Amino acid sequence: MTVPPSAHPAASGACAVAAAASADPVAPVGKAQAEESVAIFQRSWQTYQKLLEVDFLEHNLLYQAVQQHLLSLAAAAAGPGDGSYASAGGLRLVDLGCGDALQLARTLQRCGCPGCRSPGSGVPLASYTGVDVSAPALALAARHLAFLQPTCEVSLVEQDMDAFVRGCPAGSFDVAFASFAVHHLSTLEAKQAFLSQVARCLEPGGAFLLVDVFRKEGEDRGQYMQRYQGNMDEAVDKGIIEPGEAATVMEHILNFDYPEQLSAYQQAAAAAGFAAAECAATDSKQFGRCLVLRKAL
Ligand SMILES: C[S@@+](CC[C@H](N)C(=O)[O-])C[C@H]1O[C@@H](n2cnc3c(N)ncnc32)[C@H](O)[C@@H]1O
Repeated sequence: MTVPPSAHPAASGACAVAAAASADPVAPVGKAQAEESVAIFQRSWQTYQKLLEVDFLEHNLLYQAVQQHLLSLAAAAAGPGDGSYASAGGLRLVDLGCGDALQLARTLQRCGCPGCRSPGSGVPLASYTGVDVSAPALALAARHLAFLQPTCEVSLVEQDMDAFVRGCPAGSFDVAFASFAVHHLSTLEAKQAFLSQVARCLEPGGAFLLVDVFRKEGEDRGQYMQRYQGNMDEAVDKGIIEPGEAATVMEHILNFDYPEQLSAYQQAAAAAGFAAAECAATDSKQFGRCLVLRKAL
């Protein structure tokens, strides 16, 4: 079933949106409803930018791990001097729940993307495919990723990411990436099924770089919510966001965020067919992590 643009419950772009358009996620979107959804997106996106500007959520640390792993994947894929990028045309990357793609765009720039198609020149990117249910977020992504063209083919797909991976031919991509999106899948079973499909979409030897929020070991969802409330209170105390903005973030998180424990994720990744699930980085408050899930050669 196709999810209408901007009406998906978690379609926020900034991931901190009230559920104005979510009463019936498959109802047709009227003009007023769509405009309200865009307005909510803009407000939430601005709150998210305020937190990112001062690196309050420590995303820099997580994206540094992404950068490092993209570079090592590129080096491994290039092989020892066989020039395989020249023939393969570079890495094909899919960004699931891409939102505005700003953080990944900056990371790709630091990796030297789109890069020249020869080993040792950063990360040669043949294609970038971004998937998101939010039309306003994709419009921003198009701007942020413009620097990749024309060397790298950029496709932006307005679709539910779960439906997208189910419909993908096996081995369509070399690298999958998802940041702060998979926690919207509401059960561990749904996440495991999603991971299985991502594994199928990857070439042997490919990797899924997964950046997301996690519960601490032994922490339940309620305790996580309390901890996140404390985090938002701190952001307000530091004058980074307004109390009303923190309340909107918490409303969204309470409605739509289902983070898992790292150990549960690693087990789900193994059951989904990934050969390894390494935690490459964790922020100091143990909310955000970068996982590297590898598909066997
Ligand atoms: C917190 S934002 C993260 C955006 C971006 N990846 C980043 O890190 O800045 C979460 C994004 O996931 C998207 N999203 C949530 N559930 C989705 C789904 N089932 N399919 C596709 N996109 C989804 C939302 O629309 C939103 O853009």
